[in-house]
Amino acid sequence: MRFIGFRFKRPFTVVSVLYCGKLPQNSNKEGPVKAKILLLIVIALGLVSILAGESKTRDADSSAKVERGKYLVENIGMCGDCHTAHNEKGEPIKEQWLKGTELPFKATVPMPWADKSVNIAGLPGWEHDAAVKFFMTGIAYNGLPARPPMPQYRYNRQDAEAIVAYLKSLAPAK
Ligand code: HEC
Repeated sequence: MRFIGFRFKRPFTVVSVLYCGKLPQNSNKEGPVKAKILLLIVIALGLVSILAGESKTRDADSSAKVERGKYLVENIGMCGDCHTAHNEKGEPIKEQWLKGTELPFKATVPMPWADKSVNIAGLPGWEHDAAVKFFMTGIAYNGLPARPPMPQYRYNRQDAEAIVAYLKSLAPAK
């Protein structure tokens, strides 16, 4: 469990930390039960505030990951060149983004070749770990590389995970 979310700026946390410090002097014989209940409430509020902070940090982490993946897909891997259908002006069709298409070019020498790319929006059929491995090694879950012209990428783990997070985020809402 990480405590990145623990920030003294959060009002509840400040209150609970103050109380934790002050209570031994404040609690006298008349009101120890009351004080204990108050302490419990304050601690609970503090915990809620810490957990809320953590989940916020986690959300920010995962949206940064998706952003990074989008950048790698759109600007580095250029996946859309082959995985998106293009119109007659050669522009990618937005509605078809990464949904797979017939390739508009062919090999000039005899070689293994795939004429069509596959739908990768949402990465249907790919387990997270298998997809990460594929983008790190070029080897798919069946133990084989994809046929050319699909490049055998060698992204590092962090980048491969970002790409998978981005592609999975394109899954159609269920
Ligand atoms: C130069 C064209 C090209 C580029 C660029 C390209 N792909 Fe592909 N990709 C293909 C083709 C063609 C196939 C189908 C290969 C086959 O059927 O064997 C494919 C297959 C795949 C598959 C399925 C592999 C399998 O074995 O089932 C995934 C996943 C994939 N691409 C993801 C990506 C991602 C992500 C990027 C960008 C980081 C990308 N591709 C860039 C052409 C390309």
